Formats: sequence, structure tokens, C-alpha cells
Amino acid sequence: MARIAIIYHSGFGHTKAQAEAVLHGAAGVPGTEATLIEAERHAAAWATLDAADAIIFGTPTYMAGPSAPFKAFLDATSDRWARQAWKDKIAAGFTNSAGMNGDKLATLQALSLFAMQHGMVWVGLGLLPGNHTSTGSPADLNRLAGFLGAMAQSHADLPAELAPPESDRATAAHLGRRVAEAACRWRQGTGILAAA
Ligand SMILES: Cc1cc2nc3c(=O)[nH]c(=O)nc-3n(C[C@H](O)[C@H](O)[C@H](O)COP(=O)(O)O)c2cc1C
Repeated sequence: MARIAIIYHSGFGHTKAQAEAVLHGAAGVPGTEATLIEAERHAAAWATLDAADAIIFGTPTYMAGPSAPFKAFLDATSDRWARQAWKDKIAAGFTNSAGMNGDKLATLQALSLFAMQHGMVWVGLGLLPGNHTSTGSPADLNRLAGFLGAMAQSHADLPAELAPPESDRATAAHLGRRVAEAACRWRQGTGILAAA
């Protein structure tokens, strides 16, 4: 059984919707147990995080980086960093913001560098860009053309029921599925690069 922990912060529900899509994708992979954790409640979730084969980190982009509550969780891992307790766990990330660009890449870079400091093994999105030709559409998977992780965009005046759009939720589900499949292979010792 591969254990996937998805830890996220969401101020207004949009990144929570993205996190739920990641969970849906991960939980659909046979032989996987996926758990959603709110970053503000991380103190009660250390055992789940420590036991995970893969941790997926999710935060809204606030002021061009991870939100403050999510950063508080990241900083609280420093004793695990000192022991390299999460070394060789799989890691991945997702973020959501109001702007189409919105500096989401900076947030994913912060998450991936955090994972590198822990000695984790980063898994990117693994999708070609969507909506990048004249025949493309905003309904395409990976419409925001991210590579480091899953990106989502939510219009600031829409509730979480309507934003992010379905294409971004499907992109998030793809990330969850990809990480869960990688974690299964990682556990079996066949390596992260083995054919799915
Ligand atoms: C303090 C703050 C800073 C923000 N900074 C950015 C930003 O840098 N780029 C951006 O595109 N949107 C920014 N936004 C908009 C949020 O990313 C957007 O509303 C997102 O959907 C919020 O997700 P949440 O509902 O999970 O909190 C910011 C919002 C807040 C409250």
C-alpha cells in the first residue's frame, strides 16, 4: 500500500477545491491510501506525514509565494530537515492564484526547493502544455502550461464552486494520479522512471 499525504492551505476555498481534485486522482490508483491534511492542523498530522511514501504540497500563491499559514507549516518541518527524516520520499506540488500567471511558478519553485532541502524526490506534472495552439482551448488539460507542478487559476470574484475551472481540477487530478502511480513503483523498488 502506497501512502500519499496531501497537505494544503486555502484561505477562501479555491485551493481546497484543487487539493480535493488531487486527492481524487491519487485515491483512484489501486493500492493507494490518500489523506488530505489542512496545513493549519499539521501539528496533529506528523505521524501521517512521517509514514507517507509521497507528500504533495499545495498552497495558494499569495504575494508571489506560498501563503503565510503554509509557510508556517514548512518552517515547522525544520527538525525533520535536520534529521533528513523525509529523505527519499516522493514530493510534488500545486498552487492556485487569481492571475493567469500571477507568479505561480515562484510558488512551485519554493515548494520544490523545500523538497530538495529535505532530500525528497520531486515529481513534476508530466503533461505537455494545453491551450498553446490556435486549436487549443481553456478547457484543455494543463491550460496554464505548468511543468513543475499543477497550476490552477481562480477568478477573484467567483466562489470555490465555480473556480478554479474544470480543466484545472482535471490537471490537479492528473498530478495526484501521477504521484500515486510513482509512489507505487517507488515502493516496489522498480524506480520512479519505470514505465507506467
Ligand atoms: C494576501 C493575498 C495575496 C495574493 N497574491 C496573489 C499573487 O501574488 N498572485 C495572484 O495571481 N493572486 C494573488 N492572490 C489571489 C489568490 O491567489 C486567489 O484569490 C486564490 O484563488 C486564493 O486561493 P484560496 O481561496 O485557496 O485562498 C492573493 C490573495 C491574497 C489574499
